[in-house]
Amino acid sequence: MSRWLVTGGAGFIGSHFVRTALGEGWVDKLAVVDALTYAGNLENLEPVRKHAGFAFHKVDITDGQALAPVFGDGVDAVFHFAAESHVDRSIDSAAAFVQTNVGGTQVLLDVARARGVGRFVHVSTDEVYGSLALGSTERFTETSPIEPTSPYAASKAASDHLALAAQRTHGLDVVITRCTNNYGPYQFPEKFLPLFITNAFEHKALPLYGDGLNVRDWIHVEDHVRAIRLAFDKGKSGEVYNFGGECERANKDLARAICQATHVPTDLIQPVVDRKAHDRRYAIDATKSKRELGFRAGPPIEERLDALVGWYRDHRGWWERIKQGAYRDYYERMYSVRGTT
Ligand code: NAD
Ligand code: TYD
Repeated sequence: MSRWLVTGGAGFIGSHFVRTALGEGWVDKLAVVDALTYAGNLENLEPVRKHAGFAFHKVDITDGQALAPVFGDGVDAVFHFAAESHVDRSIDSAAAFVQTNVGGTQVLLDVARARGVGRFVHVSTDEVYGSLALGSTERFTETSPIEPTSPYAASKAASDHLALAAQRTHGLDVVITRCTNNYGPYQFPEKFLPLFITNAFEHKALPLYGDGLNVRDWIHVEDHVRAIRLAFDKGKSGEVYNFGGECERANKDLARAICQATHVPTDLIQPVVDRKAHDRRYAIDATKSKRELGFRAGPPIEERLDALVGWYRDHRGWWERIKQGAYRDYYERMYSVRGTT
C-alpha cells in the first residue's frame, strides 16, 4: 500500500496535485497537512473529501510535535507545497515567510528524516534565480546563480538550500522542482490572473503594476502537477529540475487578453504604482527536465484562457466568499496606497 504526505494541499497547486493524485489513482493513501492560512481553503479539496484514501490534518509545518504523528506508520513520499507564496505580502512583511518557508521546511525535513521517508519532493520556484533583462534571450537553467529579489524568493531559496543540505549531509532522498508562474482553477484571487479575471467580472479596475512590460512564463497548473509526478518518478536524488510553459508574455498583453475574454473594455486596465524591485522577466530553460524526465510544456495560455475564465465564471461563489472575507481588508490596504500613475 503506497502512502504519500502532501503539505499545503489546501492551497492552489497542492490541491490540484491532491485531486489529480487521488482522482487518477496515483497512490492508495494520501494525507494532507495544511495550517489553513488565509490561502488554504478546504473547498479546494471538496471533490476528494470522501475518497477512502484521503485524510486531512490541520497542522502547521513549523510545529514538529504536531507533525510527527501525522506520519503514522510511515510514508513513502512527502510532496512539500506549503508556503507563504505571495510576493507583495512578503514586501509588506517578511516574518511569516521566514517562519514557514525557511523554519517550517527545516522542521519538515527533520521529521521526514527521523521517520525514514522514501523521497522528499521540494516544490520551489524560478523566482530563486532573480530577474532577467527584458528583450534578452537568456533563460534560467538549474545552474543559474541563485539571486532572489523579494523576501518571498529569498525564503524559497533558503529552503532549497536546506533541502539540498539534508540530502548531502544526511542522505535524505530530496528532489527539487523549480517552476515558473502557474495559472488554473482555484488560484487565490490575490495573484495576477484570478485577480484580473474576477475584477473584470465585477467591473472593477485591473491594477497593472508599473509600465506593464514585466514578463512572466506561464504554465497551466495541470502541467506543473504532472511535471512534479515526473520528478518523483524519474528525478535523481539531490537534483534540481526546472519547469516552464515556453509561454513568455508581458503583463500588459495578458491584461488585454483578459479584457477580451471577459468582454470588458481595455480602459478598465489601470496603471498603478509599481511593485518594489519588481522582477523584470522570468524565463525557464527546461532542457534538463525534457531530457531526463520526459517533461513537455502544454499548449500556450491563449488556448486555455476561455476555459480559465469559464471556471471563474462558473465558480463565482468560491471567489466571492474569499473576496468578501478577510481578503477584502488586505486588498483595500495594499491597493489604496498604490495610487494610479
Ligand atoms: P498557495 O498560497 O495557494 O497555498 C499555500 C498553502 O500552504 C495554503 O493551503 C496554506 O494554508 C498552506 N500553508 C501556508 N503556511 C503553512 C504552514 N506554516 N503550515 C502548513 N501549511 C501552510 O500557494 P501555491 O500557489 O499553491 O504554491 C504552492 C507551492 O508552489 C509553494 O511552495 C510555492 O512557492 C510554489 N510555487 C508556486 C508557483 C505559482 O505560480 N503559484 C510557481 C512555482 C512554485
Ligand atoms: P503575481 O501573480 O503576484 O506573481 P509573481 O510576482 O510571483 O510573478 O504577479 C504576476 C505579475 O503580475 C507580476 O509581474 C506582477 C504583476 N501584477 C500586476 O501587475 N498587478 C497585480 O495586481 C498583481 C497581483 C500582479
